[in-house]
Amino acid sequence: VEATYLPKDFPTLQNDTFLRAARGEETEHVPVWCMRQAGRYLPEFRESRAGKDFFDTCRSPESCCELTLQPLRRFPFDAAIIFSDILVVPQAMGMDVLMVAGKGPTFPDPLKEPEDLQRLRTAVDVEKELGYVFKAITLTRHKIEGKVPLIGFTGAPWTLMAYMIEGGGSNTYSKAKRWLYRHPEASHMLLRMLTDVIVEYLLGQVAAGAQALQVFDSHAGILGPVQFKDFSLPYLRDIARRVKDKLKETGQDVPMIVFAKDAHYALEDLSQSHYEVVGLDWTIDPRSARERTGGKVSLQGNMDPCALYSPKDRISEIVQKMVEGFGTRGYIANLGHGLYPDMDPENVGAFVEAVHQHSKLMIKQI
Ligand code: CP3
Repeated sequence: VEATYLPKDFPTLQNDTFLRAARGEETEHVPVWCMRQAGRYLPEFRESRAGKDFFDTCRSPESCCELTLQPLRRFPFDAAIIFSDILVVPQAMGMDVLMVAGKGPTFPDPLKEPEDLQRLRTAVDVEKELGYVFKAITLTRHKIEGKVPLIGFTGAPWTLMAYMIEGGGSNTYSKAKRWLYRHPEASHMLLRMLTDVIVEYLLGQVAAGAQALQVFDSHAGILGPVQFKDFSLPYLRDIARRVKDKLKETGQDVPMIVFAKDAHYALEDLSQSHYEVVGLDWTIDPRSARERTGGKVSLQGNMDPCALYSPKDRISEIVQKMVEGFGTRGYIANLGHGLYPDMDPENVGAFVEAVHQHSKLMIKQI
């Protein structure tokens, strides 16, 4: 796959701290970025998005580029994540997805029974269906001027399957889990179809200029250890292995991050699933995460997003403890999940500054 929109002679990368931390190499400070750093907590984001359909915005490379760059103009983040959404993949497979204000993502016609798999496109031409994401990445790589690396992303097969069956957000995901118990073979078929599209999609993002890749398994926690091992982990592994094998053919090496929210029971397995980085939510203690992953991977996370409601000096203390817990090597600071729309941008700035400040001092003392 090749995004043929703009030339690929990208500006030289000036800050590779994030990439070095992902590979477990030495850095001068701990790199930091935030999930949903391009989001509604920024007034300029709300202004750019006002009156426009969410997925129309996703389909405009210029809009995606602008929204990706906005947080970088305010804060010295060490990475940017392309503005898009995980649900563009079900759309590429032929499903309708709408973003309904106050409700979130909505599938008017979700998958109900195994026969419904026949409605899905099997061989997805990612260049045709998702070329707009590749264009957004290429454009953003130019406009970011080498300041920081650009992260591409996808939803994990299980998380996308959950949305495609549930038709939107849910507390129990019982419709999707019903499939796992009642239609295990059809479930595996769907997960395999998703995996195939995701592999091509991620390779297309790298060809377009993505310098790291994150796989979001946001609904991993709704599965227990047994179902995660059966219905999520093999596909997460397959994605990393196939993407890496393919990239190796052309001598490319792009760090991959897996974020399986609330799936601590799988931490040991996740640290041996071909990803360089394991992302963590806030419900796990940094020291125990280190012990359980045994130095095999870098870790990313995991401050409770709600800690950003604290006063700034308290944020600084919380960050210090978190960095001490993880240690400064092989560590990327982040939140345990995305920023919320009512968060104060100033406190996000305080979070970023605290990570840089505390980690610089700690690294000097080593
Ligand atoms: O800054 C960034 O993080 C980059 C952009 C990004 C978005 N969605 C933009 C977005 C990323 C990485 C995502 C991933 C995504 N989308 C996930 C995985 C991460 C996670 O949160 O667990 C999931 C589950 C989705 C599906 C989705 N899209 C949801 C649940 C929502 C929220 C709906 C709501 O009203 O709160 C969205 C919409 C969405 N995607 C927004 C943004 C900034 C907010 C809506 C808007 O801008 O109008």
